[in-house]
Amino acid sequence: MKRLLFVCLGNICRSPAADGIARTIASHRGLDWEVDSAGTGGWHIGDPPDARMVEAAAARGIDLSPLRARQAAPEDFVHFDHVYAMDRNNFSNLTKIRPPGTGASLDLFLSDAEVPDPYYGGAEGFDHVLDLISARMETLFDQLTAS
Ligand code: 4NP
Repeated sequence: MKRLLFVCLGNICRSPAADGIARTIASHRGLDWEVDSAGTGGWHIGDPPDARMVEAAAARGIDLSPLRARQAAPEDFVHFDHVYAMDRNNFSNLTKIRPPGTGASLDLFLSDAEVPDPYYGGAEGFDHVLDLISARMETLFDQLTAS
């Protein structure tokens, strides 16, 4: 049993995509893991994911429609085992709310690169983000199940 949290800025584009992709992979692999997502910002609290991301994910069989945005909180570092930031700005903001001595790891999701924010871009940005996240998520699950 592992608990994973994916974090971006608004929790309506990148981290809900990561959330849905991780849930789908966990289900395919028969893993009873807890998966969630959050944003460092609070502007979209309670909102569903961006309709463009919902549509792009649905075309790949990933249902994001039940998800609702929430803001990341210090307690997340107590509850979750692993917290993944989509970009360096998210990472930096998470370090500011991370209580000292909490057990959760905090990493950049792509290790040494960022998932670009598709919010102000075109539709191809959403597919690119889904490609990036899907490829990394398979590797991440391989690593986490081996550890
Ligand atoms: P996300 O994209 O961080 O991938 O959810 C964004 C969504 C909304 C805003 C910024 C980024 N915004 O400024 O409202």
